[in-house]
Amino acid sequence: MVSAGYFVAHSAKLIAQRRSFQRALHTWYRVYQRQLPWRTAPSLYKTVVSEFMLQQTQVKTVLAYFDRWLHALPDFTALAAAPESQVMKLWEGLGYYSRARNLHKLAQQIAAQPTPPRAPAQWRELPGIGPYTAAAITSIAFGEPAAVVDGNVVRILARLAGEGRLFKDGSAAVKYFTPLADALVIASQPGEHNQAMMELGATVCVRQNPLCSTCPVADFCQARADGQPEKIPRLQPKQIEHRAVTRLWCESGDRLLLRRGHTQAKRLAGLYELPEAADLKRPTPSAKFLLAVKRRAITRYQITEAIYRVPLTPTINKKIKAQANLEWISFAQLPLLALSGPHKRWIEELRKK
Ligand code: ADE
Repeated sequence: MVSAGYFVAHSAKLIAQRRSFQRALHTWYRVYQRQLPWRTAPSLYKTVVSEFMLQQTQVKTVLAYFDRWLHALPDFTALAAAPESQVMKLWEGLGYYSRARNLHKLAQQIAAQPTPPRAPAQWRELPGIGPYTAAAITSIAFGEPAAVVDGNVVRILARLAGEGRLFKDGSAAVKYFTPLADALVIASQPGEHNQAMMELGATVCVRQNPLCSTCPVADFCQARADGQPEKIPRLQPKQIEHRAVTRLWCESGDRLLLRRGHTQAKRLAGLYELPEAADLKRPTPSAKFLLAVKRRAITRYQITEAIYRVPLTPTINKKIKAQANLEWISFAQLPLLALSGPHKRWIEELRKK
């Protein structure tokens, strides 16, 4: 176990060498950065949309969504004026749907102002903007000297400084490394610096098998000198919680029963899903098992979902009518609604059966 003094010494050394560190990182970034659609002909709008999409989601998943979104809603004014159903449909399958609602609200607030704010603190007042997104947007779009710090940046900094302590969780590590990240930002080119750090974390200083031999800042890296970069950073393993959810397949003629996610819900705001058994209070004694799926949510839950076909009896019909969030949707109308990704796939699969 290394001491705190060890980290302080190495981060002080890194800060003292920051000009040459920045130069090495930037030279590499200019040559090796991926050509991404929000980097070519950048604009504030493209930066904001890409940063919202990239929260919790990888670049390769975002690419197709980003192009489709820009085509349908090319600027803040178009997004502000768009109906919510269109916004949700364009986001369908990306997950964490409160991001789409927040982005929609943010566009309405930006479109209502003569000029958008510039300072990170002002951006943090807007819907869906945390410290990372505020720093990313304002550094890239306005040259504000704010450092982005997420899991990727933590990994780079922990390795550079040889910090081997055990962190309770990701946010404790982010808090710990923020001062070092701020000290390393280049005041003249913070947007480029932040994107270079993101790029290094995504393509070189990866979690497993980091590509140290091609790393532009390997000479500054204490973990590499110590010989075990993969062991750093150390985070306490998450306690996985298991949850079992029973879902219902209930048909009536050419219609299927769906539930609409609560508008305030973080993950599924306004999105449609198959109803849960809990929605109808134990409707399953006469139900027929159709399908079971195990899935690992990005959060600490491991969820097993089992889908049962429920016959539409008068009692069940009465319970359905009493639930405002349950709606009968015709199969013809389904493609027009925003459904959560796994539910869309299950419905397609079960319809074929
Ligand atoms: N992750 C978050 N923001 C990003 C960006 N601008 N480019 C690449 N990856 C990112």
